[in-house]
Amino acid sequence: MSPSFPQTPARHGVAVPRRWRREVERILITDAQIARRIRTLARAIARDFAGRELVVVSLLNGTVMFLADLIRNLSLPLRLDFIGVSSYGAGTESGELVFTKELRLSVRGRDVLLVDDILDTGKTLSRVRARLRALRPRRIRICVLLNKAARRVEPVAADYVGFEIPDEFVVGYGLDFAERYRNLPFVGVLYPHVYQQGCRRASPARPRAARARRRA
Ligand code: IMP
Ligand code: MG
Repeated sequence: MSPSFPQTPARHGVAVPRRWRREVERILITDAQIARRIRTLARAIARDFAGRELVVVSLLNGTVMFLADLIRNLSLPLRLDFIGVSSYGAGTESGELVFTKELRLSVRGRDVLLVDDILDTGKTLSRVRARLRALRPRRIRICVLLNKAARRVEPVAADYVGFEIPDEFVVGYGLDFAERYRNLPFVGVLYPHVYQQGCRRASPARPRAARARRRA
């Protein structure tokens, strides 16, 4: 396995596109930075899994953009499957995890690349990894676009990390706030007033709480 090379995104003040200017306070990682980083990750993954039967297992729904860009850069024979996970818990940070879609491909004896959008507390990936381990794959490697190391609760580390980010709630490039903003081509931070509006019905103090009602 090759080491991952996490990068701290440059704070270079790229202008937010006009369409999003009312909601997005700033861009944390641009689409160009993401594209470049994914090509590097894909090269490392291709080297590490060369000659193996790779099964890519991706978590719904946050990985949609990252996964598409990652696998189109992966010049390896692979099979693809999805696991659906939601976190329910009214207004709390860590809701109970519910599996909404099970794996269909067999991973027994296979090399698995588990892909998620962001590694935060680690609760999701540690649960999913335990479930996958029970299916007796040859090995499991974890790949995430973003890592918030400061928030970790469970002892789970990613083998491939796109970007290390500070403890801020981010949206875009697949990541949502209350199911919105997944379609932003960049990773950005919303203005506080957006979180407050989105939280009105759930009445949590922070965006994470609203999001906890429905993960993925
Ligand atoms: P964990 O179980 O705490 O590691 O959380 C993982 C999941 O929480 C991710 O797959 C995301 O769906 C969600 N999440 C965590 N942090 C953020 C964020 O900053 N923005 C959007 N979603 C997030
Ligand atoms: Mg989410």
